[in-house]
Amino acid sequence: MYNSLWLNYKKLSLLDESEQRIADILSNVCFNSYEAENPLCVNIKNEIDTAFEAFFGKKPIFSYNVEMTSGLLLNIIKNDSLLKEGYRIFSFENGYKIEAADYSGLLYGTFRFLELVRIGKLTSDVDETKNPDNPLRMLNHWDNMPGDIERGYSGNSFFFEDNKMMINDRTVMYARAVASVGINAVVINNVNVKGEASYLISDRHYSDLKKLSDILNGYGISLFVSINYALPLENGLDSADPLKEEVANWWKNKCEEIYKNVPNLGGFLVKADSEGRPGPFTYQRTQADGANMLARAIAPYGGIIIWRCFVYNCRQDWRDLKTDRARAGYDYFHSLDGEFEENVILQIKNGPMDFQVREPVSPLFGGMEHTNEMLEVQIAQEYTGQQRHVCYLIPWFKEILNFNTHMKEATAADILSGRAMGKKNAGMAAVSNTGDDLNWTGHDLAMANLYGFGKLSYDTSLSAEDIAYEWARLYMASAIGEKSFEEIKGKVITDTVVDILMKSWPTYEKYNAPLGIGWMVVPGIHYGPDVDGYEYSMWGTYHKADCKAIGIDRTASGTGYATQYKKENEDLYSSLDTCPEELLLFFHRMPYNYVLKSGKTILQYIYDTHFEGAEEVEKMSASWDSLRGMIDEDIFERVSKRFEHQVIHSKEWRDVINSYFYRKTGIEDEKGRKLY
Ligand code: GCU
Repeated sequence: MYNSLWLNYKKLSLLDESEQRIADILSNVCFNSYEAENPLCVNIKNEIDTAFEAFFGKKPIFSYNVEMTSGLLLNIIKNDSLLKEGYRIFSFENGYKIEAADYSGLLYGTFRFLELVRIGKLTSDVDETKNPDNPLRMLNHWDNMPGDIERGYSGNSFFFEDNKMMINDRTVMYARAVASVGINAVVINNVNVKGEASYLISDRHYSDLKKLSDILNGYGISLFVSINYALPLENGLDSADPLKEEVANWWKNKCEEIYKNVPNLGGFLVKADSEGRPGPFTYQRTQADGANMLARAIAPYGGIIIWRCFVYNCRQDWRDLKTDRARAGYDYFHSLDGEFEENVILQIKNGPMDFQVREPVSPLFGGMEHTNEMLEVQIAQEYTGQQRHVCYLIPWFKEILNFNTHMKEATAADILSGRAMGKKNAGMAAVSNTGDDLNWTGHDLAMANLYGFGKLSYDTSLSAEDIAYEWARLYMASAIGEKSFEEIKGKVITDTVVDILMKSWPTYEKYNAPLGIGWMVVPGIHYGPDVDGYEYSMWGTYHKADCKAIGIDRTASGTGYATQYKKENEDLYSSLDTCPEELLLFFHRMPYNYVLKSGKTILQYIYDTHFEGAEEVEKMSASWDSLRGMIDEDIFERVSKRFEHQVIHSKEWRDVINSYFYRKTGIEDEKGRKLY
């Protein structure tokens, strides 16, 4: 059982004349440039049929490749303002037109048109032109072939079960939903490729891969797979050394075989030399040697190698005060700038550590002028509440995108879109938050991250708030026209949901690890507070709190991490006057009595934010409660349950963190609140 996510088309309440006019106009659809054999065309038509039938109670009358002067007209056209996968939606006297340069664009235009109808924005002067900002807009599923999902918090895989692929009606629902927000590439298996997953690229699974790839292609999506770098070793070779001819040839033959069977495969995602995964380091080769060998093997078929930069020493001795995990990505990759093949893209996590609630933007953005780069974020909320706490991440992604790298004054968005360096292989990827739960994302409000990531990766100029509003309206309160929308209390619903979503990340941050230091979680599961959980471990993730101070000096006089940025940013982070306070402890070791700009000491700030955070969760929960009876009961109940937990669990965070610092320092809360 699964729901239709935000594509839950319902009957529109047609109340006034202008809305009735829309219904009349939309009873005729003319699809020019229609190709009956093209799955994209068929899917566009089907989507319109399904939607209109739900909206108006009947399917429209379709005509193809004829001149029509009224109704909804779809057309492929060539002009300068429409680029690959772009679209224009506009009104004319007797109807509306959707135009695009290609069928993917027409599909996106169609989905957007249907949204406009449902959110009451299909006005008589609508005119919206969009071209995607990012060439690749990707989801990375960490699904394992037995059916579990690494860091999955919404059930099991809907791609795999018992080491087999699953292809069914849910696959189609998935493709529709992610295409509707602009996703054009997906990796279906975990980056940690083990067991049967090593043989995903073998005749055991080719026919299923082909089937899946065909379904996805019909929605403009390319299929990628994660591969095991050491695969030649499992196939009779005694080496996976990228510079050995026999290894390179093995991969060449493999790629030939793969593409014979799955001709439209997008390429491979590779996690190498990281957390126990094999890679070129075993053979004293560089990351570029490894990536380029694969890139050459796959190039004849137009394939792409997405090579992750999450490479660091996870066997560190905590007594070693010199090594700084934050430096690792840059240290390994920066000197290789310009050495990668054109069909290699480096996929870089947003921050130098690992998806903490707050991290600086990785210095690799702006650190490699001659290399294709893409951003990796994680909507799976591994460290941000695991889809049990509400944590809408799009406001943070906006901050990341807007970060000025000071490489040619390019923002991160300029770089990963490819525009700063004139690259065509670039983009954004998110570690997905989906599973086989009825609502796909466990927490219904976590669905906003899936919807939002897609929308933002297509159009990085959208605001987090607008995205939240449109999602809330589509998923919980769609209707037509502002007037009827008011009448069905839609505005109350969306205002409440948007307010909760927009507050959720700042609130989560308040009761989590303070001031950018990160990592105060229970090791392994990464859920719940454990301040010293990672303190004396091998993972390189330390806060070094003692009775006087906390934080890591990462300036030039410390680990030197800050020097990996362009000068302007190094200066920004290195000076206590300019370092953004939310990152203070990431860059500096500070005494607890240091006074912040607000006039509070660090210790008092920790106490205050943790009390505030837990209180804010109670308020969010109460405001969700106010929607009782106004929205779908199942959604209401599911989210209420999660809030019940979040209220309790945020107090746990509050008390564990506050008591920890109280015990370290012996200093009371100025406001005399209970500490343990
Ligand atoms: C985190 C996460 C792992 C994952 C890894 C990665 O460390 O906890 O489960 O494999 O990131 O991104 O490769």
